[in-house]
Amino acid sequence: MDEKKLIELEELMEQARGAARNSYSPYSGFRVGAALRLTSGEVVTGTNVENVSYGLTICAERSALVRAVAQFGPAIRIEAVAVANLNEGASPPCGACRQVLAEFTLPDAQAMFPVEGGVKTMAFRELLPEAFEMRQRR
Ligand code: THU
Repeated sequence: MDEKKLIELEELMEQARGAARNSYSPYSGFRVGAALRLTSGEVVTGTNVENVSYGLTICAERSALVRAVAQFGPAIRIEAVAVANLNEGASPPCGACRQVLAEFTLPDAQAMFPVEGGVKTMAFRELLPEAFEMRQRR
């Protein structure tokens, strides 16, 4: 990846870190933030919002995605995704978030997220190689 793209991803990562500060995570204490850069250049962030009924928790990535559609409409396309946490742990996007992001994310979009001992950058298509698609014969 060229230097410019890497710097842009690191900037997106900083926005994800900023969003993580707003995390509502009294149950896990795990503070996650996500930042999505759209093809329009807009950046939309999200954070995890937990619930006392644990399974109703929404992840940072999905909260950012929902916010992006609400703000900019259904034609958005995501060209870069960054995830961060304030716990110095690994936090690759969960499987559910990968599928939900896939709906709006360009296959050659870059994703950056914390892994054990550092940060990983990879193409979104490698993160979810066989995303569910619905093709019906009628
Ligand atoms: N979490 C995210 O925000 N993103 C993920 O991809 C996985 C998990 C949140 C949900 C929950 O609030 C906390 O991390 C611990 O699972």
